[in-house]
Amino acid sequence: MSTDKRYYVTTPIYYVNGRPHIGSGLTTLCCDFLKRYQAMRGRETWFLTGTDENATKNQEAAQEAGVEPLEFVTGLAEEFRRAWGAMNYAFDDFIRTTEPRHVRAVQEVFRRLRSSGDLYRGMYEGWYCVSDETFFRDSDVKDDRLCPNEECRKPLRRVQEENWFFRLSAYGDRLLAHIEANPDFLQPDFRRNEVIAFIKQGLRDASVTRANNGWGIPVPDEPDKVIYVWFDALINYLSATGWPEDEQRYRELWPADVHMMAKEIFVRFHATLWPAMLMALDLPLPKQVYAHGWWVGSEGKKEGKRTGGLPHPMEMAADIRQRSGAASDLAVDAVRYLLLREMVFHGDSEFSHESFLRRYNTDLANDLGNLGNRTTAMVGRYFAGKVPAAEPDAEVGAFVRSAVADYEAAVRDFRFNMALESAMRVVAHMNKVIENRAPWALAKQGKTEELANVLYTCLEAVRVVSVLIYPAMPITAQALRVNLGIPDATVAPAWDEALQWGHLPSGSQVASPRPLFPRIQDIGAAASETKPAPTVKKEVKPMNTPSPEPAAPAPPAQSEAPATITYDEFAKLDLRVAKVVEVEPVPNATKLLKLTIDLGAETRTILAGIAEMYQPDELKDKLIVVVANLQPRKLRGIESQGMLLAADVDGQAIILQPETPVPPGSKVR
Ligand code: MSP
Repeated sequence: MSTDKRYYVTTPIYYVNGRPHIGSGLTTLCCDFLKRYQAMRGRETWFLTGTDENATKNQEAAQEAGVEPLEFVTGLAEEFRRAWGAMNYAFDDFIRTTEPRHVRAVQEVFRRLRSSGDLYRGMYEGWYCVSDETFFRDSDVKDDRLCPNEECRKPLRRVQEENWFFRLSAYGDRLLAHIEANPDFLQPDFRRNEVIAFIKQGLRDASVTRANNGWGIPVPDEPDKVIYVWFDALINYLSATGWPEDEQRYRELWPADVHMMAKEIFVRFHATLWPAMLMALDLPLPKQVYAHGWWVGSEGKKEGKRTGGLPHPMEMAADIRQRSGAASDLAVDAVRYLLLREMVFHGDSEFSHESFLRRYNTDLANDLGNLGNRTTAMVGRYFAGKVPAAEPDAEVGAFVRSAVADYEAAVRDFRFNMALESAMRVVAHMNKVIENRAPWALAKQGKTEELANVLYTCLEAVRVVSVLIYPAMPITAQALRVNLGIPDATVAPAWDEALQWGHLPSGSQVASPRPLFPRIQDIGAAASETKPAPTVKKEVKPMNTPSPEPAAPAPPAQSEAPATITYDEFAKLDLRVAKVVEVEPVPNATKLLKLTIDLGAETRTILAGIAEMYQPDELKDKLIVVVANLQPRKLRGIESQGMLLAADVDGQAIILQPETPVPPGSKVR
């Protein structure tokens, strides 16, 4: 085992009195992003998450559910573990605070601080909020005896007991000195200032034990007391390293590189109590502690509770899968993208189901989908699917370099939304480059060298985008890389090497385009709910009426369900299987192909708007489905005697075919 220090990133350990939602899902996702990003940058990594199980509120939630506390917390811990696995969060360790390894470490901390004199006995009389698991002094509490935390406002309990106290007040100056000497320690800056103000007010010693009511980690040698849940919980970051028993693993991991969390547990706990505990233990402090803002649910806002109305992240993924038809793992990637892209990291963001779906359509279905598909489709059409030997455009290279620099700066700053914005800036830029350079016109004019340069540049940009989105959307990145014919596409690329401009080797075969993120057609219909919406079937539409230009703008959203038709009306359609005999491009029409088809008893000509997706050679001998009794129609001087059926996926035509070979002319019912 190597003893190099790993990049060690942690989430808060979540209370198991509730289910995972996109709030806890977001913090865990940020850690997954950082782990993947640092691994691509060559670091060995370790990503810890887990559950905080010794809280009184967990015990109370178990009582309410009529289940033994351990059974109750085990069920919920498994639910968190499953949820994070389903979201493709690659955690290396999942710690539960009821595990013996944690209990041993917490009791050892207690023993050490008791013998060093950092803990002392005293009488505690004051208020306790079970929901926040926090003590309050008389002077903090108003006559209403409700929790002073505006987000909570639950009734407080009066507590009077003999407890152990931690000499937090002795660490104020050392904490301030450390914060001043290490400006990156507490992030973002404005929250560091809150911490400084909090410490300067004067720190009070903290009560770190409670009466033992049958749940919690017992104080060593004093079984009538348990250790205060926050004192216990913070130690998880250390106990998960194997401290104090596994020296080697501890050295590999500690100090943590980043403790990630939201703002409510930053000032008092992670930026003050925890560093002071580590100072008392004479252990190094974490390198960085970062707090992001909250996802605020619309329902929650009204109730003054931030998590009201926040969905489970896998519920979001199922909804996107159902609405769009995207594959399950790509729908998960879409949610990962949307959670990071829609959050304003240093502040709060109100969760809106509708904004998520809209951004899915604009960023993923349209911008990213179009770039990937158009690029590989054109390489298919003009270069037989082989990456042409060419020079990547230097100006685009400079644009990409500056986007990469912005991306890296944003990640350093924990502004993952801005990092993804930088990646999508490359996508938007390339879609404009394609419009401006019009590869289809270059092809027509026979400017092969220029065409090769433009398309190579596009492929190269898609490759760079696949690297940049990798930490957020690993499955999508892999799919893009497979499409580009990159060997070992499923291995995370090495950051610096993969971001060299012009890295894509020529000659490799690109795949036929397939839409990764089909467009969602019905945002309007169920935009306000967060519950999964009913399945939306893909539109199947005739493709012989192309729009004049080759960009594939998304079709307008369909908000109304189609009216039903009778069977008799349906029976009027003469749908048949036909075999494609010959295919040619249509002069002056970039989207159209002219197909000669065998209908069994006769041969016909039809026009189809599928040139962007299919090359003539690919279609020859294919079986297709056509409307055989459609009135003939002239397009570009050619009479189309029927209509081919294709699925319309994000404005791209995917032709329908019988599953097994059938004779040409077979009727379709
Ligand atoms: N158990 C403590 C943490 C102990 S860490 C040593 C706790 N648990 S919690 O279940 O309440 O989780 C709080 C954390 O979950 C937040 O700090 C944040 O990381 C995440 N989030 C919970 N709700 C959230 C939002 N609405 N928005 C963003 N993050 C949210 O506190």
